[in-house]
Amino acid sequence: MSSLLIRGAKPYGEGEPVDILVRDGVIAAIEPKIDHDADEVLDAGGLVALPGFVDLHTHLREPGREDTETIETGSRAAALGGYTAVFAMANTDPVADNAVVVEHVWRRGREVGLVDVHPVGAVTVGLKGERLAELGTMARSAAGVRVFSDDGLCVADPLIMRRALEYTKALDAVVAQHAEEPRLTVGAQAHEGELAARLGLAGWPAVAEESIVARDCLLARHVGARLHVCHVSTAGTADVLRWAKARGTTVSAEVTPHHLLLDDSRLSTYDPVNKVNPPLRTSTDAAALRAALADGTVDCVATDHAPHAAQDKDCEWSAARPGMLGLQTALPIVVQTMVGPGLLDWRGVARVMSERPAEIAGLADHGRPIAVGEPATLALVDPAGRWTVRGADLASVAANTPYEGMELPGVVVATLLRGALTARDGKATK
Ligand code: DOR
Ligand code: ZN
Repeated sequence: MSSLLIRGAKPYGEGEPVDILVRDGVIAAIEPKIDHDADEVLDAGGLVALPGFVDLHTHLREPGREDTETIETGSRAAALGGYTAVFAMANTDPVADNAVVVEHVWRRGREVGLVDVHPVGAVTVGLKGERLAELGTMARSAAGVRVFSDDGLCVADPLIMRRALEYTKALDAVVAQHAEEPRLTVGAQAHEGELAARLGLAGWPAVAEESIVARDCLLARHVGARLHVCHVSTAGTADVLRWAKARGTTVSAEVTPHHLLLDDSRLSTYDPVNKVNPPLRTSTDAAALRAALADGTVDCVATDHAPHAAQDKDCEWSAARPGMLGLQTALPIVVQTMVGPGLLDWRGVARVMSERPAEIAGLADHGRPIAVGEPATLALVDPAGRWTVRGADLASVAANTPYEGMELPGVVVATLLRGALTARDGKATK
């Protein structure tokens, strides 16, 4: 029997500090003061205890681009960011469109053991959007895939999307759509607006996202299936979601930290570290997304952690790949954009970072209440701590963070997965 005593943490930042005794991976007691000869004691004075975070949208790049991230380095970044489960997107090389690849990702995640790595299965063979992948085989594989996505690309064909929704409904799974009407974004480089026009960058209009989200909400309702919308980036998409939810559509949605904090004024730097898909929108969009996350129109935060090699980022804008690192900076940015301004309290942070994503993906043992008998799968956060982001210091192989040199509030001090410390004081434990 192994035991760990967490001293003086505030669950959800509420009430008086308590001691939390963890025995064999489970919360055994929560009391104002616990006298127990634990194997290990963790001083958590001043820290907020939250359920471990769940990221529905992570690019781990293995197999295929281990020069930018591996399941091991990505797991470290996740643990350091307070995550206990991540969903690894299917746009690897080879694509995760079959049982062999998803089982590889799942097994490798278990071997590393820092975070539960759940592979996302591709919706279509090779992400080509033409033929459905073997969704059932992936669902029944050892990886037990429950989230399917062609992320990076949109499932643009409405008939394929309809069939995907029908299959996932039968499998009790969900399609996570990268909403981008490809005919409206040919050659697109940046948010379609005044700034992109002035800089001579081909525009990615908001309507390319909003039209697909509206279509898919209608399809999901017609089929009676669940739909999840990836990286919502515009105020108009929030309006569509509000409308769809009001009429009972089973749709959920995520927003990235970068779309909450950053806007297209970053374009004027011409630095491709700011290039991302969907692109950074206007400050009005970012404000609408923060409001939509606060009121539940957007269900959760997902990182879209997208490591890229230096040669794919340190080049001219049009040649650069879209994407930015996110796992280690997500909580601080949520603190900065949502907790600081009073849009979310720590209960709300638990909801958008852990509980809702776990529910959407059907994870039974994450996003659980901090209570006796529950798994000790936790993030301990110093709300008063601040740190300065240095890409070179992040655990990822790649270093493409748009927050270089920024001082952010909120430090993840420790992460526990079923009672085992996976990160502590800025170091992953493996
Ligand atoms: O910015 C992005 N990067 N958006 C995507 O949809 C894909 C991702 C990647 O794989 O790099
Ligand atoms: Zn995407």
